[in-house]
Amino acid sequence: MEKKIEQLIGEMTLEEKASLCSGMNKWKTESIDRLNIPSIIMTDGPHGVRKAVNEDDFGAHGVDDNEKATGFPTASALASSWDRELLSEIGQALGKESKALDVSILLGPGVNMKRSPLGGRNFEYYSEDPYLAGEIGTAYVKGLQGEGVGACVKHFACNNQEFERMSISSEVDERALREIYLPAFEKIVKEANPWSIMAAYNKVNGIHATENPLLLDILRKEWGYNGVVMSDWGAVNNRVMALKAGLDLEMPGASPANDKKIVEAVKSGELDESILDETVKRNLSILFKALESTKEVETIDFNKHHELARKAAVNSMILLKNEDRTLPLDSNTLKSMAVIGELAVEPRIQGGGSSKVNTTQVDIPLDKISENMGDNVSVNFARGYDLNRDYKDEKLIIEAVEVAKSCEIVVLFMGLPDLIESEGYDRKHMNIPENQVLLLNEIAKVNKKIVVVLNNGSAVTMGSWIKNAKALLEGWLTGQGSGSAVADILFGKANPCGKLTETYPLKLEHNPSYLNFPGVDGKVKYEEGIFIGYRYYDKRKIDVMYPFGHGLSYTEFEYSNLNVSKNELEDTEELIIEAEIKNVGSVEGAEIIQLYVRDKESRLIRPEKELKGFEKVFLKQGESKKVIFKLRKRDFSYFDPSKNYWIMETGEFDILLGSSLSDIRLEETINVISTDKIEINLTGDSPVSEWLMEEKSREIFFEFLDKVRDRVENSLQSENAEMVLGMPLKKVMYFDTELASNSEEIIKNMIKKVNS
Ligand code: BGC
Repeated sequence: MEKKIEQLIGEMTLEEKASLCSGMNKWKTESIDRLNIPSIIMTDGPHGVRKAVNEDDFGAHGVDDNEKATGFPTASALASSWDRELLSEIGQALGKESKALDVSILLGPGVNMKRSPLGGRNFEYYSEDPYLAGEIGTAYVKGLQGEGVGACVKHFACNNQEFERMSISSEVDERALREIYLPAFEKIVKEANPWSIMAAYNKVNGIHATENPLLLDILRKEWGYNGVVMSDWGAVNNRVMALKAGLDLEMPGASPANDKKIVEAVKSGELDESILDETVKRNLSILFKALESTKEVETIDFNKHHELARKAAVNSMILLKNEDRTLPLDSNTLKSMAVIGELAVEPRIQGGGSSKVNTTQVDIPLDKISENMGDNVSVNFARGYDLNRDYKDEKLIIEAVEVAKSCEIVVLFMGLPDLIESEGYDRKHMNIPENQVLLLNEIAKVNKKIVVVLNNGSAVTMGSWIKNAKALLEGWLTGQGSGSAVADILFGKANPCGKLTETYPLKLEHNPSYLNFPGVDGKVKYEEGIFIGYRYYDKRKIDVMYPFGHGLSYTEFEYSNLNVSKNELEDTEELIIEAEIKNVGSVEGAEIIQLYVRDKESRLIRPEKELKGFEKVFLKQGESKKVIFKLRKRDFSYFDPSKNYWIMETGEFDILLGSSLSDIRLEETINVISTDKIEINLTGDSPVSEWLMEEKSREIFFEFLDKVRDRVENSLQSENAEMVLGMPLKKVMYFDTELASNSEEIIKNMIKKVNS
């Protein structure tokens, strides 16, 4: 293939090469008939194939303008399954549907971090944790690309809000970039080799993502990425600069003006033609990959895919609360049930914006609940509120309260409308609309048995209304099978097994980005650094509504037999961690075992715990299974911005296995032995502690300061040791007049010797 591409490039005119650097229209790449180079189609993504019926149409005017396709749960829901196999299965199904619609690249997954719960597109992203997002994204990409359809991992990078999304500069420090905002992309690039990456709309530290050195320096050089980097739709600022920075494909294909600029830049010598050739080579290589794979196309069994959507929805939902074992419901003994809320008949199954799919069918929760209850039982419905207008409608409330009064149990559907949560704008607050909360509180006055089902794409706050819900099921935006999934879980046909991939804080004001969101004057400062999501709440010991990793089941699990392969780990070695998980309850179910690592002491401040592994195990009643995790050097390391590399420090680390971040069941401490040198640039201002850290500098310190050796050593033995340790070398010299008067010369010689 490489030869063929080289040959084609050799035959191309400069203008033809430039033409391949942008699309033909909204969704197609450019073709060159003269050379038999066809175009390929790409389309959104990520949780369903959104192919516009009219290919020159954005397809965003209404879902009906798109071809029919299966609508799977959105990213925040899918990630809550913590199920790599499921993600891969969905990737495969999406690949098959794409191929059937002649789509070669599906624009997804979105792996940006949920920096603020207000981010309008949080429903399209996986988590506030980069490890989790990377694992889930890798499984999705492998599944999709295994079918011969390319992924486009988006939005690279630091695209964490919708406010001024096309111009805002995300001001982020190097450590946060490396530890939080890049690792999900890094993992997917290194482990799944995605066909393409989408450069985001925003700027990163003042430079457009489409022109940012991140593309060449990190993505290409450090991670070795050789696929195509395309722009988000309309994200190119300066085409020639972007090309030089590593942006291969401008989308959509607007006007040929930018292609002309490329031609002119080559002619004027501003752009080296070899850079253009490399770009064209990458663009052609995914084209040929695509042509290769469209050879065999299966007909899609949409019913089978609907069943997969339903299974995915079941696995994505999270039982957040279940007081007095209110759930599951027993349809044999229940005589009456009230189903309340507009969302029970018009479920919100996906988020607003470019990812909206024209679904093949939608399961309606009320219908599915009624089917489960059988003919002898009355299921009474009341609308309760108007989802799209947050105003108090007395009539709807009175009617719902009447229905609730006469029934044994109430299942109340609450949630957010598109109007509040969508691509293009951020939320203003984290509340559920007031008319719904009012409704719940009124119902609670006449019926205490209330099960709340939530329909939202991102964390919400609960305030005091939570006390009126006996059980709470986070139903997310779980795609076209969500109605059946809710019924399956309510009636115990399925056991809930999802867990939170983002923290539910008690208040928006507790969120670490609160003081710096959404930014001002074209900048949003990521001042919380690496402390986003649970890393912040955990470190600050701030109570939350529901912690990261939380999720209940109808059964219980016992953790035992933790075994670590080594108590002393060298940095070239791998640590193997094993434990046994047993289902000790009365029904089958699945548990998500989370592995966190805690660095007990470190030079740079670190999170209290960091997720470094997880496994989901499905267990029959009484069954037990062994789970195995592997940790390597990087899992213990932090990124040191002053050295610009990852450092593992020698010392103690806790290995923690838990059912959630705040429910750690087993732990073990190990010693890690690192060969990384924490090289400190010693100066006259460096404190005594730093001069004494390494043997060599310690010897030099006492050699040159021999006259004050006793004084220093005595102080170090005393209770004032810290005072001396914190003194700069310069000042210690004042202990002696001769040293003090020659201090500059002495320090110069000391530094020279240290560096020799
Ligand atoms: C979105 C992308 C999407 C593209 C094409 C953009 O506005 O940010 O995520 O893939 O449109 O619809």
